[in-house]
Amino acid sequence: MGYNDYLSMSDDELASLIIEEKKKKGIVILAHNYQRLEIQKLADYVGDSLELSRIAAKVPAQTIVFAGVMFMAETAKILAPEKKILIPDKEAGCPLAESITADQLRELRTKYPNRVVVSYVNTTADIKSLSDVVCTSANAVKVVEHLDGEKIIFVPDRNLGDWVKRCTGADMIIWQGSCYVHERFTVEDVERAKKLHPDAAVLVHPEAPPDVVALADLVASTSGMYKFVQEKRVPAIIGTEVGLMERIRHEIQDSKVYPLKDDAICKTMKYTTLPKLARSVREELFEVTVPEDVRERAVSAVRRMTEMV
Ligand code: 13P
Ligand code: SF4
Repeated sequence: MGYNDYLSMSDDELASLIIEEKKKKGIVILAHNYQRLEIQKLADYVGDSLELSRIAAKVPAQTIVFAGVMFMAETAKILAPEKKILIPDKEAGCPLAESITADQLRELRTKYPNRVVVSYVNTTADIKSLSDVVCTSANAVKVVEHLDGEKIIFVPDRNLGDWVKRCTGADMIIWQGSCYVHERFTVEDVERAKKLHPDAAVLVHPEAPPDVVALADLVASTSGMYKFVQEKRVPAIIGTEVGLMERIRHEIQDSKVYPLKDDAICKTMKYTTLPKLARSVREELFEVTVPEDVRERAVSAVRRMTEMV
């Protein structure tokens, strides 16, 4: 089947093909909270970066289709090298992860040899392999607290770094990368949303700028926000990519959630479409690989995170 054949199928036909093929092949589909709703609905698990990497390592399935961006699929491969990890669109990158090169991190390490390198999971496998410990938005504060006064180099997100520094008081040199989706949130957006929905709690992802984070009732990972709405049952303004809000509306009955910005869209997360997912499951495309020497070094940094939290 050529790609055009998938494009000519209806959504229902594609969904049936995906369900049938994944069952036949024993494939598990993982989808990040930012994926299109039609992709989330076909996934076996939907979650944030931390949850999905844990599931990738744990599930018995030998083949995983990772509906997300490349650093997430790479992290799955780092943790589960014996498994075949597939990504439906190999161009689905994360500009934040690409904001620091291995040479730039090597230079920082040379300049500050006594500092511990903490890298956000939104990094390439090469960057993880040069890091002492990895963290995600769900556990960054705890990871740095565990380091107990050590001086830190934090890469690549400046807003997450700033938030962690404020929560822990740690001595941190922070790489000045940022996510274009979250960087656009402003104090005016919060004020406008609160005027429209005065009873709603403001939930903000730590990739947002510090002045926006300062106005939040909760600063959390995408699944942290999901759990808040599920447990508290209060209206909420969602300060992250809109895919999470779509998931909440679909899965949590009677939830009242509103976007902080309705055009907060991660383009590369949306590269995964039903035709591409169907092609990925049926033809086992595109396999994600990480060179073994890089993987071996990266896995110790990822494991160090899981031992800490
Ligand atoms: P989470 O781990 O909170 O889902 O965040 C991933 C991400 O890419 C945020 O932009
Ligand atoms: Fe990367 Fe931002 Fe997209 Fe998250 S939302 S995957 S940080 S570009």
